[in-house]
Amino acid sequence: MTSRDSGARSPERVRWLVTGAGGMLGRDLVAVLSADPRARVTALRRAELDITDADAVAAAVAGHHMVANAAAWTDVDGAEAAEATATAVNGTGVWHLAGACARAGARLLHVSTDYVFCGQAAVPYPEDAPTSPLNAYGRSKLAGERAIAELLPELGYTVRTAWLYGEHGGGFVGTVLDLARRRERLDVVDDQHGQPTWSYVLAQRLVQLGYAALAGSAPAGVYHGTASGWTTWFALARAVFELTGLDPERIRPTTSAAFVRPAARPAFSVLGHDRWAAAGFTPLPHWRTSLAQALRRPAFASGPEVLPD
Ligand SMILES: NC(=O)c1ccc[n+]([C@@H]2O[C@H](COP(=O)([O-])OP(=O)(O)OC[C@H]3O[C@@H](n4cnc5c(N)ncnc54)[C@H](OP(=O)(O)O)[C@@H]3O)[C@@H](O)[C@H]2O)c1
Repeated sequence: MTSRDSGARSPERVRWLVTGAGGMLGRDLVAVLSADPRARVTALRRAELDITDADAVAAAVAGHHMVANAAAWTDVDGAEAAEATATAVNGTGVWHLAGACARAGARLLHVSTDYVFCGQAAVPYPEDAPTSPLNAYGRSKLAGERAIAELLPELGYTVRTAWLYGEHGGGFVGTVLDLARRRERLDVVDDQHGQPTWSYVLAQRLVQLGYAALAGSAPAGVYHGTASGWTTWFALARAVFELTGLDPERIRPTTSAAFVRPAARPAFSVLGHDRWAAAGFTPLPHWRTSLAQALRRPAFASGPEVLPD
C-alpha cells in the first residue's frame, strides 16, 4: 500500500482511495493524485485489496471521501471461458465497492467499457443508449454498472472508456511499437471503429470529475471517457508509425474475419460525449492530439512495457 500526501498538511485534504492501483489506468490515477495538493491518496494494488472480498472492501473504503475503481478483470478473450470469475470481479466486486461507498457516504468513480454496447450503430452511442453486450467481458462490466445504479444512484459515477493505451501497460499502441521492432510488415484490422484513449488523460479527467462531484457541480450517473473523433485499428497503427518516424506503408489493412478471436468485438465502438456539458466539462481531446503527446513520453520512446506488472 502507498499513502501519499502531496502538499502541506490541511484538514480539507480530500481522501482518495484508488483500487487496482497496479494496473495501467490505476498507475496513472495514482500519479495524477500524488501531484495534486488537494489530495491524500491511498493506493491499493490487487495483492493489498481484492475487491471480491466484501469485508476487506468495507474496511478499505472507510474513511475516504472518494473511491476511484481501476480494478477489473480485463482479459476480454479469457472471460469467454471464465465468465463467472470475470463477473465476480467486474460485477460482484463493484457491488461490494458501491455498497461500502453507500455506507461510508463516499463517492465512487467507476470505470466501465464501450463493450456494454453491441457496436451495430452508425452514430456515436449516447450515454443513455440501451446496452446489449456482445461478449462475456461486456456482460460482466454491465453487471458492475447496474450495481452502481442500484446501490449508489446519488454518489456513483460510471465512466465508460475504450481502446485504452498508456505508459504502464502499453495497450495496442505499445503492442504496435513492440511489433515494429520485430516485424517488417504488420496486418491490422480496418473494420472496427473506436476512440483510442490515453489512460493518463482519462486519469486526469476522472480526478477532475471527482472534485466536481464533491463540489456538487457534476450529476451522478454515466459519462463517456473516450477521446474525441474516431478511427480504426489500422489507421491508429499508421498514426503511431507516422508520429514515431516509422514508415506507415509497412502496415496493411485486413479484416476481423482474418483475426478470429474467442470474444466477438463490436464493429462501431464509438461513444457520444454530450453528458460532459452537464458537469461543466468539454469532451476529452481528439485521439490524435493525445496520441502525439503520449508518444513524446520517455516510456514510449524507449520501449513500452507491453505487459502490466
Ligand atoms: N484497456 C482497455 O482498452 C480498456 C477498455 C475499456 C475499458 N477498460 C476499463 O478500464 C479500467 C482499467 O483498465 P486497465 O487497462 O488499466 O486494466 P489493467 O491494466 O488490467 O488493470 C486492472 C487492474 O485490476 C487488478 N485486478 C484484477 N482483479 C482484481 C481484484 N479482484 N481485486 C483488485 N484488483 C484486481 C489487476 O491486477 P492483476 O494485474 O494483478 O490481475 C490490474 O492491476 C477497467 O475497468 C477496464 O475494464 C479498459
